[in-house]
Amino acid sequence: MKQIQEYFVPWIKGIPMYISSHLELAWREPQLHRMMSNENPHEPSPKVYEAIVKYAKMANRYPDQGLVVRGKIAEINGLDGPGNVMIGNGSSEVFDMLFRCFLEPGQEVIQHTPCFGIYKLRCQILGGKLVSVPMIYKDKQLLFDADAVLKAVTEKTKIIVIANPNNPTGNFMDADSFIKIAETGIPFVIDEAYVEYAGLEMSQVQLTKKYKNVMITRTLSKAYGLAGMRFGYALADKDLIAQVSATLIPWNVGTIPMWAALAALEDTESLEKRREFNNSEIKFIENALSNIPGLTIFRSYGNYMLFDGTDAGKVGDEMIAYAQKKKGLILRPQAPMYGRNGFFRITIGTKEENRMLVEAVKEFFAQ
Ligand SMILES: Cc1ncc(COP(=O)(O)O)c(C=O)c1O
Repeated sequence: MKQIQEYFVPWIKGIPMYISSHLELAWREPQLHRMMSNENPHEPSPKVYEAIVKYAKMANRYPDQGLVVRGKIAEINGLDGPGNVMIGNGSSEVFDMLFRCFLEPGQEVIQHTPCFGIYKLRCQILGGKLVSVPMIYKDKQLLFDADAVLKAVTEKTKIIVIANPNNPTGNFMDADSFIKIAETGIPFVIDEAYVEYAGLEMSQVQLTKKYKNVMITRTLSKAYGLAGMRFGYALADKDLIAQVSATLIPWNVGTIPMWAALAALEDTESLEKRREFNNSEIKFIENALSNIPGLTIFRSYGNYMLFDGTDAGKVGDEMIAYAQKKKGLILRPQAPMYGRNGFFRITIGTKEENRMLVEAVKEFFAQ
């Protein structure tokens, strides 16, 4: 008799469960300050809370396909209607749905690094080959390199994914580079998880009208502050959305998140407040830390900031250990890159947390 292991598809063998150790730590030790996962520091608005309570009473009912919330999303983005929108259990599920539709084992996904880790995980699960094209580190900036992305294209390329703004670098790629990549006709996923912080004017959503291979992904986990609720969506040409939607798990988005998402999308005042708070705190942190010799601060348009302390002779992991030990702040490590080990990333926290962070960084760099 064969062992059960022999029945698994070969490409999932040996892959461990994705466990986010810093989130495990934060839930285990709630006195620690969560400045590591690009969550929003503010709780949901009263309008969202009301919707959650209202639909909690209907939790015995199956949801519909989300026509109302999809219609609202289309309207906000200047698209024709719900047929241009697919919803998922967080944008992480949306990537999974998109990747499954295009990627066969042995074929390639191009990502631009450093970037968000889920593209790699979803590619692995499908037996795909991940091709990582590094950004350029120049003049204390991490720059997009669309030409290098295009050079990495082969017959086997089935998906190109770029986050805009990128996590962890915080910057936007220029509009011409998006067109160059879209022109290849290859399925092109533009991850706009953080775009609301800069404003929808920075979105590339208009490309979906001209290019049937362009897909925009978004989430309510960041500027809308609903990471624990799990709601994300994709925007694209209606034929593409129809085909991908055919692969959705029925009722993939529950009644409560669906209607709470609608309340959040309608609550523009609350979004604006979160956005203003975030952007002014980014400026505060930038100013407060700008005169530390040898500390590079990357200009961020998201709710996080990347730093490189290598030129000051500092190691990123040691900064993180110091912040946790001395101030109870959980920050995010960043693997060494470009031969430098001084990188670390922070998430914008509450006012108080951001001031604790500034103190921690100043103290650590003064040592
Ligand atoms: C670039 C990027 N895209 C997507 C996500 C995931 O968002 P969701 O909570 O919608 O799965 C994150 C989360 O950190 C992210 O950084």
